[in-house]
Amino acid sequence: MRDGTYKIVTFGCQMNLADSGVLAAILNAHGYRAVANEQDADLVILNTCSVRQKAEERVFGRLGELSALKRQNNIKIAVVGCMAQRMGDEILKRAPYVDFVLGTDRLYDLPQYLDNGEAMPSIHTDFGYEHIDGIVPERDSPYSAFVTISRGCDNYCTYCIVPYVRGHERSYPMEQIVGQVRDFVSDGVLEVTLLGQNVNSYQDNERDFPDLLRAVASQTEVKRIRFMTSHPKDLSDKLIEVLATEPKMMAHFHLPLQSGSDRILKKMGRKYTFEHYYDRVVKLREAVPDISITTDLIVGFPSETEDDFQHTLDAVRAIRYDSSFMFRYSVREGTAAARLIDDVPEDDKIRRLNELIKVQKTVSYDKNQNEIGKVHRVLVDGVSRRDRSVLKSKTEGNKTLLFKAGPEYIGTIQKVNVITADSWTLHGELVN
Ligand code: SAH
Ligand code: SF4
Ligand code: F3S
Repeated sequence: MRDGTYKIVTFGCQMNLADSGVLAAILNAHGYRAVANEQDADLVILNTCSVRQKAEERVFGRLGELSALKRQNNIKIAVVGCMAQRMGDEILKRAPYVDFVLGTDRLYDLPQYLDNGEAMPSIHTDFGYEHIDGIVPERDSPYSAFVTISRGCDNYCTYCIVPYVRGHERSYPMEQIVGQVRDFVSDGVLEVTLLGQNVNSYQDNERDFPDLLRAVASQTEVKRIRFMTSHPKDLSDKLIEVLATEPKMMAHFHLPLQSGSDRILKKMGRKYTFEHYYDRVVKLREAVPDISITTDLIVGFPSETEDDFQHTLDAVRAIRYDSSFMFRYSVREGTAAARLIDDVPEDDKIRRLNELIKVQKTVSYDKNQNEIGKVHRVLVDGVSRRDRSVLKSKTEGNKTLLFKAGPEYIGTIQKVNVITADSWTLHGELVN
C-alpha cells in the first residue's frame, strides 16, 4: 500500500465495534494509520453484519460506492466479519473488486496478509481465534470501552444467524479480561461494557459470570461496569445479587424478550415462557428499584397471529421497558426458522412494527417523565452534536442526559438533576 492508511466502517452490534477496535490497534501496531475519510484511505475495511437481510444489503450498497472509489484511487477493499463468514467467496460474485474476505475469527490476520503481500483476492473463513496480548483496542470514546468476554453462541434461537457466523461459544480466561480492563483504565477509561452473546454462560473453570463481575469490580480501578447480553433463560439470582450489592454495577439490564407469546417463544427456541421472563423482571426490580430495563423484540415471526402480536404489545405495557430495539422478522438462510413458511405478509409486519414502536414510544416518554426531579450520576463523554455548548452524558440506566456546562467536565462523573425529558433524551442541570 502507498502510505498505509486505512478506514474501518463498522456495521452491526457492539461485538463488531469491539472487534473493529482490536483490528485498528493491530493495524496501528503494524505501522498502518487510520484516516477519517474513505477518500484518504489506501484500504477500506467493512466490518459487516448478517443478522437481517437489510444489514447485508446496506453493505452491498456501500460496496457499490467503494467500487467507484477503487477505480479512482486504486484502493484495496476488505469485507470482514459476519457477512464474510456467512458468504465467503459468494461476496465476490456480487462485488468482484473486493480484495479481502475475512471471517469473524480471521479479521485480525489482515495486517499479516498485507505485510506478506498475499495473493488477491484473499479469502479466509476458518474458525479459531487466539488472543493478542499487549494491545489496547481503539475505541470511539476515550472514557468507555467494550470488553469481549466470550465469542460465539451455542443457543441457536431458530431465527438467528449469529451461532453460524460467530461459531461455538468460547470464554476468555478471567485474568485476561481483568488485565484488559486494567489496560483500558490506564488509558483513561472510566466505564467498561462486558460483551458476550449470552454473558450468563460465561465459564472459566469453576468461575461464572457473577464471579467475573466481582473480579472486575474488586481487582481494577474502573468506575462503572455494564454488560450485554443476558439471556432470560439462565439469568441467575446470583447475577441479580451482584447487581444489587456491587456499587460499580450500573442500574441497567438489557433482557431480550423477542415475543410476548409463549407459542412464538417456543417456535423461536428461546427456552422460557413469558411467566418466567416476567418473574426475572420482578426480581430485578425488587433488588434494584430504579433499574432501567431494555429489550429486543421481533414482529412477524412465521405463523405469528394478531393475537400473538397483542401479547407482545401487552408485554411492553406490563413491563414498561425504558426502551426497545424492535425488528421485523427476516429469514436467514440456514437457520431452523428458514424451514418454516415466512407467512406473515410484509405489510402486516410493517404495521405491527409501527404499532409496537408507537406503544414503546409512549412508555419511554412516561418513564422518562418520572425521571424529572431525580439526580443522576452521569459519565460525561463529550459535547452534543447539535449544540457544542451542551454536554452529553450517560446515566446509570444508560440514558442520554444533556446539560449545559463547560468542556472541563468531559471525562468526569457528575451529578445532574433532570429538568425535562422526551422519549429518547433527558435534559438537566449540574448539581453543585
Ligand atoms: N445475542 C444477543 C443478540 C443477538 S442479535 C441476544 O441474544 O440478545 C440482536 C437482536 O437481533 C436479537 O435479539 C433479535 O431481536 C434480532 N434478530 C436476530 N435475528 C433476527 C432475524 N432473523 N430477524 C429479525 N430480527 C432478528
Ligand atoms: Fe442469536 Fe439466540 Fe445466540 Fe442471541 S442467544 S446470538 S439471539 S442464537
Ligand atoms: Fe453482531 Fe450482526 Fe454479527 S448483530 S454478531 S454483527 S451478525
